[in-house]
Amino acid sequence: MARHRKRAVGAVLAGLLALPASQAGEPETMSDVMQRLEAAMVGLNAALMRGDLPKAEAAARRIARPPLVSTDKRLNFMESLGRYREHVAGLGREMQLAAEAVARRAGRGDMRGATRRYLQLFQTCTDCHGFFRAARAR
Ligand code: HEC
Repeated sequence: MARHRKRAVGAVLAGLLALPASQAGEPETMSDVMQRLEAAMVGLNAALMRGDLPKAEAAARRIARPPLVSTDKRLNFMESLGRYREHVAGLGREMQLAAEAVARRAGRGDMRGATRRYLQLFQTCTDCHGFFRAARAR
């Protein structure tokens, strides 16, 4: 990532992540969004471990349609990504598609399929984190 871009991304992320997380309603920061995704993933994992497919489906749907920060903050964030914008948007879509696949399989009582898709979903989370970590280290 170009140096000025990297600094811009760092600054926007730092700004968004520094704000306090709110518990309900519209999330105020990216960090807040991520913590809700994390809670849904933990819930999804617990539901699959217990074979509770309706609960697993509901948790996966919360990830497939994640809570969003305000349009302003979202635009700011996307703008800060410069030419990586499409790539990061794609990573976000992959997460949503993988979560949708978990939900569909859980919805039709397919435990093995839901579990396999859950593992793929997990990978989409860490792929995006890895991208940001690498961009910062560069
Ligand atoms: C499109 C990119 C993207 C995807 C997909 C993504 N994240 Fe993140 N996540 C981020 C960024 C950016 C941060 C900020 C920290 C960083 O750069 O490592 C972050 C941070 C986090 C954090 C730390 C938040 C904090 O401040 O306490 C958690 C937890 C998290 N993500 C969970 C998840 C989970 C669970 C998923 C998948 C269901 C997910 N994320 C998918 C981009 C993403």
